[in-house]
Amino acid sequence: MVKSRIEKLDNEIKNCRRCPLWKGAKNAVPGEGPANAKVMFFGEAPGREESLTGKPFVGRSGKLLTQLLEENGVNRDKVFITSILKHRPPNNRQPKKCEIKACEIWWRKQIEIVRPKIIVVLGRFAFDTIVNEGKSLSRSRGEFLTLNKEWGEQKFFITFHPSAGLRFVKFKEILRKDFRKLAKKIKSF
Ligand code: URA
Repeated sequence: MVKSRIEKLDNEIKNCRRCPLWKGAKNAVPGEGPANAKVMFFGEAPGREESLTGKPFVGRSGKLLTQLLEENGVNRDKVFITSILKHRPPNNRQPKKCEIKACEIWWRKQIEIVRPKIIVVLGRFAFDTIVNEGKSLSRSRGEFLTLNKEWGEQKFFITFHPSAGLRFVKFKEILRKDFRKLAKKIKSF
């Protein structure tokens, strides 16, 4: 039931024409993972590899994400991985406000269907879009947060985007620390 709802939603996302990004993208990238996953990861937007394959986080950032999960004993196939935008912005440029707004319906529906216990927010862009409560990313990072009433008991775990870990060793170390903490929580379910 939940599986068929998420499959139906994937098809709607693949046919989405709510903003012009679909014109330049090879494939939409709805995301992937079990429809009843306990944990959902949100990145920013598909990059080149993701647009070519239709799969989330399969490029360099994705390889680091997979490594961070696996070195802490979490199988990537057990979690739901997606991004805020479902089509790649040309040349990986920053998403525009109208594109973010147009895509909001999709990530909200995904959360509504999957109902994860933890939503992992990867980086500034996902943080500003989902958390959006005047909180500071650096002060919220590495913590399990409960947000406003809209989200009920759902917990949010905020950390850097893996691409930051590819650019700076310091951020990679912080990501490692955060993923150790996150994995402990995931294993406690
Ligand atoms: N970065 C993201 O935020 N999402 C992807 O799917 C790939 C890279």
